[in-house]
Parts: sequence; structure tokens; C-alpha cells
Amino acid sequence: MVYKSVIEMIGNTPLLDISEHLEEECARLVVKLEMFNPGGSIKDRPALAMIEAAERAGNLKPGMTIVEPTAGNTGIGLALVGNLKGYRTVFFVPDRMSREKILAMRLYGAEVHLVPKELGMAQCIELARSYCEEHGNCFMTQQFENPANPNQAESHLGPEVYEQLGRYPDGMTVGAGTGGTFTGLARWLKKNNPNGICWLVEPKGSIFGGGPRGSYLVEGIGNSFYPQVLDMDLADHVATIADTDSFAACKFIAHKMGLIVGGSAGANFHAAKQLCRQLGPGKTVLTVFPDNMERYYSKDWVAELVED
Ligand SMILES: Cc1ncc(COP(=O)(O)O)c(C=O)c1O
Repeated sequence: MVYKSVIEMIGNTPLLDISEHLEEECARLVVKLEMFNPGGSIKDRPALAMIEAAERAGNLKPGMTIVEPTAGNTGIGLALVGNLKGYRTVFFVPDRMSREKILAMRLYGAEVHLVPKELGMAQCIELARSYCEEHGNCFMTQQFENPANPNQAESHLGPEVYEQLGRYPDGMTVGAGTGGTFTGLARWLKKNNPNGICWLVEPKGSIFGGGPRGSYLVEGIGNSFYPQVLDMDLADHVATIADTDSFAACKFIAHKMGLIVGGSAGANFHAAKQLCRQLGPGKTVLTVFPDNMERYYSKDWVAELVED
């Protein structure tokens, strides 16, 4: 197939069986390789879905500006799709996010405002709202509230897995930032396999599992509040993973699987190993690798991981 636009290349990512990297007496483990999306992450999917839903509803029209608070990957997806469709893009990003992500957004043509990390994502949301009020002719995608965010995981990501795997998994471990991917995939799984076990993955320091708020280095997952799109009722368990375990998993994945993945992929794999042990042989677990580590090369933790 010859594509006519990079937008057409979003989704349809490969599914890889990584069961050989588990201990014996474990379930089968398959992973959706989301870094193969053209913007380099799983967030290309909701970016496209939110833009097209807004266009269909008449809320986003030519000449308007797309505004969003983002941890980076959504911004990259929105900048990529938005720019190709002719919209201006403006983002509010916590300054702890990697330089690589910010550079990518700017290369696509976005205007990026950095927000001190102490103020958190909640403040990025407030600043984005104020920008829209002040400038007008703006559309805020609002990934934390926009139903198109979880809906695309339910209607596209899940069905892709079924098509590739030929069955519904028995469990899944999926990291949550907005919770869009987790909620959509969990809805899809529980609808098609009511016994499906859904583990939400977060870094230690995120509050989804009820733990105290703290700082963490893994990017893209975890939060200091419960986003509207996140349906916690679908989570059978919250796996809270320490940065050290996520990063050790990244190193293992690079050595053993030939994939240089970001920290949230490491967290998802660490949790998946536990669920595969719990479910045992004959069952199948699904996880996702949301992006690549190349997106974080300027971070100290990457240099430390290489030296270690
Ligand atoms: C690297 C990475 N992993 C996981 C996620 C989580 O995705 P969601 O917002 O669907 O919870 C994100 C979201 O930005 C991300 O950037």
C-alpha cells in the first residue's frame, strides 16, 4: 500500500509476542508496539481522534488554534496532525518533560509554554483555559475530559489487537496518564471477555492507587488527580511501579528484545510479568509499549542506566 499522508499511517502498529522473556509457568504475553506510530507514540491515536471528532461536531474550523495542556506525547501528536491539517497549535507543558519532546513539538510548528513542574498538570490546564479566553478562536482538545480520547482505544486499538491475535486477551496491564488508553482498552476487553483482568499501571508517586503524591521520573503515566476520562471502576488492580523497576525493565527490554523503549513501557512490562505469573499457562496478557527511550536521551536517568 502507498500512503498519501502521514495521518493515514497512525495506528495498525505491530503486535509482538514476548512470552519467551518470562519465567516458566506464566501466561503468554503480547505487546502492542505503539512507538511505531509516525509521531513516535501511542498518543498519535487520541490526537487524531480528538481533532476529527471536533471537526465533525463543528467545534474546530479552519483558521482556529488548537490549545492543550500536555505531558508531551499528546502535544507531538496534536502538532503533527494539527499542522498537516492547517491549524496553529499552542501547548502548556510541565518543565520536567524531556527536551526531546519539546523540540519535536516545536519542529512540527507548535508554540510551547513551559510551566514549572511544582505547579503540576492542573496548573497547565488552567493556563491553557486562560489562553483560550484571552485569545479567542481557540479549540481546547481537553484530553483529560474528551470522550474521543478513551473512545478511540475502545473502537480502534482494541479491535486491532483482536484482528492480530485472533482472540480476546485474558488480562492487560496498561499505564494511565489521562487514563484514555486504559479506560478504552478495559471497556473493550470487559465487553468482549467479561472475565478479563484489567491492571492499571502507574509510577510510585502517582495517586491512582491511593498512595501519597510524590515525584517520579517516568513520563507520560501517573497523575496528581483523577481525570474525568479515567474510569477507576474498570481497574481490578493498580500496579504502582518504582522508577528503578521501570528503568531496569527498559534495560532488559533493550538487551533481550532489541527495543529501546521509554519508561512507561518498562513499567507496563514489569506489571505484565506479575499478571502473567498470576494468570498462569494457557492465558494471554496484553500490554503496550507507548514510546521510545530516544525521546528521553537528554535525561540523567538514561545516562545512569547505561553506566549501571
Ligand atoms: C509515554 C506515555 N506512556 C503512556 C501514556 C498514557 O496514556 P493515556 O493518556 O492514554 O493514559 C502517555 C500519555 O501521554 C505517554 O506519553
